[in-house]
Amino acid sequence: MSLKGKNILLGICGGIAAYKIPLLIRLLKTQGANVRVVVTKAATMFVTELTLSTLSQEPVCKDIFPDLFSAKDDWTRHITMGEWADAYVIAPATANTIAKLTAGMCDDMLSASFITLRPNKPKLIFPAMDGEMFSSPSVQRNLFWLSQNGCTVVNPESGDLASGQCGTGRMPEPETIAKMIAAAVASNQQDSKLHGKSVVITAGPTREKIDDVRFISNYSSGKMGFALATAAAARGAQVTLVSGPVHLQTPHGVNRLDVESTAEMNREAKKHHASCDIFIGAAAVADYRPAKAASGKIRKKHETMGISFVKNPDILAGFSKQKKPHQLAIGFSLETAGNLRNAKEKLEQKKLDLVAYNTFDGKTSGFEVDTNILTLIDKNLEIRELPLLSKQEAAEKMLDAIEELISSDKKTSDE
Ligand code: CTP
Repeated sequence: MSLKGKNILLGICGGIAAYKIPLLIRLLKTQGANVRVVVTKAATMFVTELTLSTLSQEPVCKDIFPDLFSAKDDWTRHITMGEWADAYVIAPATANTIAKLTAGMCDDMLSASFITLRPNKPKLIFPAMDGEMFSSPSVQRNLFWLSQNGCTVVNPESGDLASGQCGTGRMPEPETIAKMIAAAVASNQQDSKLHGKSVVITAGPTREKIDDVRFISNYSSGKMGFALATAAAARGAQVTLVSGPVHLQTPHGVNRLDVESTAEMNREAKKHHASCDIFIGAAAVADYRPAKAASGKIRKKHETMGISFVKNPDILAGFSKQKKPHQLAIGFSLETAGNLRNAKEKLEQKKLDLVAYNTFDGKTSGFEVDTNILTLIDKNLEIRELPLLSKQEAAEKMLDAIEELISSDKKTSDE
């Protein structure tokens, strides 16, 4: 992965981890990247503009308004910077700037050029702060929003913090950041095997009506499916997201269709069977529905009551049944028991190209939480165990595996 000739915009906020950034600039320059630096006022308390401009060989940008007495200064620089960048990296990202980016504020050069960045360019955010600040509800809410809206949020590492405490908040080392930037630029858009592909993703729970005021459902939040939609759109795919009832915002550039029941999800998904290249079943679909939903409200007349259920259609298996050789079927296998057997069976029975065996522990992996532990098994029974990752990072890994399948299928058909 090379950064030769790539334009990297580097945003620095006022955090102690800013002392690591000069080294990052050197690493990026050594790899052939063009680096421009944008700083907040507070950042210059930690690292000098002279150091940054010497290493980047470019003037450092700070103020949104130009120096009117300098002929060289350009009053549209906040726009041209966003157009210039192949990737925008904000490191360290402080709680204040994270809040500004989430709110869409643009009162300094860093936040203004964030808004003008061209769609689908990688945005990497490296929060670094005290552990208590990092875990505060507002910071977590804002980071979640950014990760749902096209940003790759790289969680800080655990260790000794500047406050003298030990906790989560340390920015990764410059070598790690440089590798991540190179990977993000390499897998972006035009280079991505997903660029221009049509991807359909089912997400969230389904609801099955018992009567006019009640339903049965499950705890799915839709976060994994939405993370996949975000990541696929960032790689240039045309994404259709068929979502059950969730409380999530539609990712940037994604066509979202809201449904409630399994029958509705199936109906919408089927409309795309023939035209899509990749079908990802990330929804937690209700396997059964009440045989007949009562009209009105069922009254509390008896000590016990029974509901008779009938089986729902299997949406993913329905896609696989009719799929053409060039189409890929991807599924999940959420299992409470810790073995891969069920996942492998689903891979075979539903004729999948890839299954994500999803361990459910109720705390770090499964429904509602922001992290997941996945094991990816492809149709050649190649197994890839992933560590505990944010759902956004897990989504990127799944898409990497899908891109590998596309490459190997193409190779086989070319031979
Ligand atoms: N799936 C689907 N339609 C269904 C049930 C499941 O599309 N009616 C998809 C899910 O989106 C997931 C995969 O099939 O990608 C496996 O779902 P899961 O609930 O793990 O397994 P089931 O097939 O429902 O089997 P079981 O509940 O017995 O584990």
